[in-house]
Formats: sequence, C-alpha cells, structure tokens
Amino acid sequence: MRRVALAGRVAEGAPLDVEVTPMRRRHLRSVLRIEAQVYPRPWNLGLFMSELSLRGDRIYHVARVGQTVVGYGGLMLVAGEGHVTTLAVDPAWQRRGVGARLLLALVRDGIERGITAITLEVRMGNQAAQALYRRFGFAPAGVRRNYYVETGEDALVMWAHDVDGAGYAARLARIEATLTGSTVTDRPHPEPPPR
Ligand SMILES: CC(C)(COP(=O)(O)OP(=O)(O)OC[C@H]1O[C@@H](n2cnc3c(N)ncnc32)[C@H](O)[C@@H]1OP(=O)(O)O)[C@@H](O)C(=O)NCCC(=O)NCCS
Repeated sequence: MRRVALAGRVAEGAPLDVEVTPMRRRHLRSVLRIEAQVYPRPWNLGLFMSELSLRGDRIYHVARVGQTVVGYGGLMLVAGEGHVTTLAVDPAWQRRGVGARLLLALVRDGIERGITAITLEVRMGNQAAQALYRRFGFAPAGVRRNYYVETGEDALVMWAHDVDGAGYAARLARIEATLTGSTVTDRPHPEPPPR
C-alpha cells in the first residue's frame, strides 16, 4: 500500500473526501510521478508548463486527498468544443471515483465556458477509460490507425454532444449522486458577486 504520503490514513473502500482544484506549478512534481506510472509515453515538465501557460483555452485540474495529489486531467477548448487532453489517477487511488470527479469538474467548467460538445482519443485496448467515458455519454465516432507511435496502437475517437443541454446536466447529476464522500471543487472562474 502506498498511502504513506497521507497525514491521515484513508481506509480502502472508505468514502473519499476529494478536493478538485486548478493545477498549479507546485503540483507538477506529483503530476509527473503519476504520469510516469500510467502512460507509456509520459508528458514532460515543459509540456505541462506550456499547457498551464495557455489558461485562456485550457482547463487543468488536480484531485487531492489531503495534501496528496491523486489525479489530474485537462481539457482544451477550441471553437466551442472541448478536447480531453489527459486524465490520470494514481494507480493506488484508482476505482474510487477520482477520475469521475475530475471529469465532472472539467466538463462542467468547459460548459460554463461555452462548449457544446467534447471529444477525446483513447487507446483501443483501454477498457477502463472507455467505460468511464461511456458513463459520461461519450460514444465511439471513429478510429485513428496507429495513433500511439510508441506501440502502434489504434485510438478510438469518442464524442459527447449537446453537453450544454438539460439532459446532459441530468446525466452529470446522476454520476455525481453515485460518488461517496465529499468533493470540494475550487472553481477557477467564480461568478461575479451580485450587485
Ligand atoms: C481511466 C482512469 C483515469 C479512471 O480513473 P478512476 O479514478 O479509477 O475511475 P473512477 O473510479 O472514477 O471510475 C468511474 C467509472 O469508470 C469505469 N471504470 C473505471 N475504471 C475501470 C476499470 N478498471 N474497469 C472497468 N470500468 C472502470 C467504471 O464505470 C467506474 O464506475 P464504478 O467504479 O462505479 O463502476 C484511470 O484508470 C487511469 O488513470 N488510467 C490510466 C491513464 C489513462 O488510461 N487515462 C485515460 C487516457 S484516455
């Protein structure tokens, strides 16, 4: 068990209290540690720094349990559409709703910033991620052959449409209702105070 970094111990299966917050430079050491564990061709520090510098059309969040970064994800905003650039959860913390919480926050923030559809590429063999994306209403739309150069694996292209509609908001609410524990989301674009 790799839970030593936590101040308080979190029992396996116990409801998880997760904070989802905008990714900052100070998170990148932990992000890179997770990145190296879950991706065969990990992004480097420069790539994350470059993404973080593009705040105008990027949303990057980390998920933390206590002070420990347990996952992160990103969304690129292009012409009213969102593109999931990355989504990863520390293997020691997978299957506890962290990925779902991150995707909820990314999608909701994207919708707030005007997107109406979201796309992503996922490895054809990555059943875990595909199951998560299907829950979020993503459907297969095509295949990019040999997309992942390091393995020659094909990418499945998935899309979720009409994410700004009431039906999709209800889907997100249903997903949220299945999560145990609490999620504190530090929204990067707060509403202006009422006047
Ligand atoms: C994909 C990933 C981010 C999911 O994160 P996670 O925190 O484990 O996911 P969650 O616990 O929020 O799972 C939410 C739902 O996704 C599906 N899911 C997640 N992992 C799954 C698995 N191993 N097998 C089947 N379904 C899975 C389930 O529907 C799950 O809901 P349930 O647990 O109530 O059944 C994580 O597995 C990961 O980091 N993988 C390596 C990196 C990666 O492949 N990223 C995606 C790149 S496109």
